[in-house]
Amino acid sequence: MCGIVGYVGREQAAPILLDGLSKLEYRGYDSAGMAVYDGQHINIQKTMGRLKVLSELTHDGATMPGCVGIGHTRWATHGEPSDVNAHPHYNEDQSIAVVHNGIIENYGDLKTKLEARGYHFLSATDTEVIAHLLDYYYKKCQYNALASISKVVSRVEGSYALGIIFVDQPEYVYSVRKDSPLIVGHGQGGNLIASDVPAVLKYTRDVYFIENDEVAMLSQDNIQFYNLDGEILEKESKHIDWDIHAAEKGGYEHFMLKEIYEQPKTVRDTITPRVSNGEIVIEELGMTDEEIRALKKIHIVACGSAYHTGVTSKYVFEGMARIPVEVDLASEFRYRNPILEEGTLVIVISQSGETADSLAALRLAKSRGVKTLGIVNVVGSSIAREADKVMYTWAGPEISVATTKAYSCQLVAQYLLAMKFAHVRRQITDTELASYLVDLEKLPNQIERLLSNKEKIQKFANRYSGAENVFFIGRGIDYAISLEGSLKLKEISYIHSEAYAAGELKHGTISLIEEGTLVVAVVTQEELYAKTISNIVEVRSRGAVVFSVTNDNNQAMESNADYITYIPRTNKYFTNSLAIIPLQLFGYYVSVCRGLDVDKPRNLAKSVTVE
Ligand code: F6R
Repeated sequence: MCGIVGYVGREQAAPILLDGLSKLEYRGYDSAGMAVYDGQHINIQKTMGRLKVLSELTHDGATMPGCVGIGHTRWATHGEPSDVNAHPHYNEDQSIAVVHNGIIENYGDLKTKLEARGYHFLSATDTEVIAHLLDYYYKKCQYNALASISKVVSRVEGSYALGIIFVDQPEYVYSVRKDSPLIVGHGQGGNLIASDVPAVLKYTRDVYFIENDEVAMLSQDNIQFYNLDGEILEKESKHIDWDIHAAEKGGYEHFMLKEIYEQPKTVRDTITPRVSNGEIVIEELGMTDEEIRALKKIHIVACGSAYHTGVTSKYVFEGMARIPVEVDLASEFRYRNPILEEGTLVIVISQSGETADSLAALRLAKSRGVKTLGIVNVVGSSIAREADKVMYTWAGPEISVATTKAYSCQLVAQYLLAMKFAHVRRQITDTELASYLVDLEKLPNQIERLLSNKEKIQKFANRYSGAENVFFIGRGIDYAISLEGSLKLKEISYIHSEAYAAGELKHGTISLIEEGTLVVAVVTQEELYAKTISNIVEVRSRGAVVFSVTNDNNQAMESNADYITYIPRTNKYFTNSLAIIPLQLFGYYVSVCRGLDVDKPRNLAKSVTVE
């Protein structure tokens, strides 16, 4: 989704804006632009396409002199991707420039009213209403920027993080947010705003996380925060201790490959602080043993891959801890009036912590008075701040749009919770817990082993990179793995792919299987081997080529698949953590083979901050 950056300081703004925007590229975008105050006017340059087009257009920012500016990468919502729809947007006389991340839901209404007052619109965006509305209120509020921003905010419905500059207040950048991420970086000789921390890390590690309806006013040497009544707010900055290199490629061809290879470390980092002397200690959970025993139900709510980890966890929580679990897509949960009774725990899972639907689902759960827990990767993000409790996954910054390492960390965070709940509720004995812990702590090395064996998958990916349709099948946890394997392939390779519960194929989808169709069969659940094999036999007899991911030494598969990749043996609940590795590699190498933009697949955004 869109990214915003702003700078005011001693340096030339445009190169800093370009650099900041490059750190937000992972969010996904189709056009980019900057507005810089040159001492007399606000100049805007904007264009369709990648940031390098904007860099070329402005000679790396050199043609836009000035030390105050705002920049934007746009992921189109209202209005097609085009030069004119790209941000920033001006007001009528070009004395105000605005960048926006989010959606103004009542923009149609506002536009009609503004047009009736004589304002002209150049673009098809919702954002342009903000520029004109600011113009209207700025004049009405006797050129008081804070008062006019408050007025605008009181009129717009939807989500926004705004960066604003005024030609007659050339020493300031203003910013305000509601439901779209925004941080302020406190630098030396200059201050910044941005949608995410990596954009400012080159200049500062001291960052303020802006809450809804807070206004930031930045000048070269000062940062002031206000509420919408114009009262000064005291805020504390946070020191970011992760390294800028964590957000760089470090010699890998793509962020996705780097992140796949980081999994042994990040999975270990997520497990280790929570295991002590043979016990699972999740202090951040803040639940007593009595409260854990009193739990009647868990709802897991998330989107995309994070949702797929929830599908896995349903099997793990129910199987291990015998607690009923419902798993929902956040976009469904928020509108289905769920029954949330006392004794329910709602777990919201999100890498970014900013996914609009997941945040709305969290708020719904909170409004119903049930306990909420966020499993979140981005420290200080909205879901992390708003959930009653937060359990962080220690994946570090994930840049590639297709998640890999955050997914793996979300899985192990949920295994830890399930084991803790199972033990406290006396569903597993001390001995069983000890044995689960041994298996859990082996996972990082086992992932490493799988990664050292990538050539076979690479060859297979080359061979099938021209496939038009691929089906992923499995039962139980293997179905959950299939969901993620299929998503990994389709989102970065653009090959049509579907995941099916293996037993469900014959209820319709099997009619799509023909000579040469690739079927990926995930077969890691021993008690279901025979059942899944019978489905494999059904598709092979209709001409499918079967690639199976199964456990080491599963001889039953040898005569039933055309290609096999083996994963090390582990507990039946943890197989997803291993089986997903060859499937991530498969998706990755197919995309590379097809010459696609692996890290920034078309139409996708890393942080989905609109519903
Ligand atoms: C797929 C992917 C997405 C995200 C989904 C939720 O590779 O990354 O499906 O999992 O958009 O995002 P978060 O976890 O940030 O809430």
